[in-house]
Amino acid sequence: MKLYNKGYIIAGIVVFIILITFPLWYGKGKSSPPTLSLDTPAIAQLKDKRCIEEKSFMRENHMKLLGTWRDEAVREGNRLYTARDGRVFEKSLSGTCLECHSNKEQFCDRCHNYVGAQPTCWSCHIIPGEVK
Ligand code: HEC
Ligand code: HEC
Ligand code: HEC
Repeated sequence: MKLYNKGYIIAGIVVFIILITFPLWYGKGKSSPPTLSLDTPAIAQLKDKRCIEEKSFMRENHMKLLGTWRDEAVREGNRLYTARDGRVFEKSLSGTCLECHSNKEQFCDRCHNYVGAQPTCWSCHIIPGEVK
């Protein structure tokens, strides 16, 4: 009788642990990080396959960079950005980012879908190639 109860308690504990850790293991292996394609005509022409700033910086800060660009370009009329390595870019979402990353779907969208981000820029800003 005692052992019988113990079995139930252990089974109960096992079920409990499986349930509370469910979010930790469910979906593991299903959603590997997306492959981000750099296969565009503009990037193919670059001698150095570099973004505006370091890759790790871009990965973490492109949203802030774009916000700053918008404010400076629209409010202050300051439309040129000098990168840390001295290259100069126009502060433009469609004209600069999507010039190199013209494969928005295989690059920006792929990562945003993966992390669940939905930038609402494209109701106003043109995606080059969409408009002929
Ligand atoms: C309601 C419409 C609207 C939305 C939504 C919007 N923008 Fe803009 N944006 C504008 C307008 C209008 C300008 C001014 C265009 C100019 O002066 O060149 C502008 C200019 C900019 C500029 C500088 C100029 C250029 O060519 O890009 C940046 C950068 C920018 N926006 C980024 C963003 C980002 C990033 C988002 C999404 C998070 C966004 N905008 C969403 C309307 C919008
Ligand atoms: C001159 C071409 C060029 C321009 C302009 C450009 N990129 Fe890039 N971008 C690249 C290249 C090339 C890489 C890959 C860099 C590497 O692997 O070191 C990259 C990498 C990135 C990454 C990191 C991807 C990853 O794998 O983590 C992000 C995010 C990014 N770019 C966003 C942007 C945004 C947003 C803009 C506009 C503000 C922009 N890029 C403008 C060429 C460009
Ligand atoms: C390596 C992954 C990755 C790539 C590639 C990437 N993004 Fe992002 N993006 C993110 C993450 C993560 C966020 C932040 C989501 C949040 O904070 O909710 C974000 C947010 C943004 C935002 C701000 C959204 C908002 O509503 O404030 C903009 C604008 C943006 N990305 C533009 C771009 C553009 C344009 C490209 C392609 C040139 C691009 N991103 C490529 C990961 C990426």
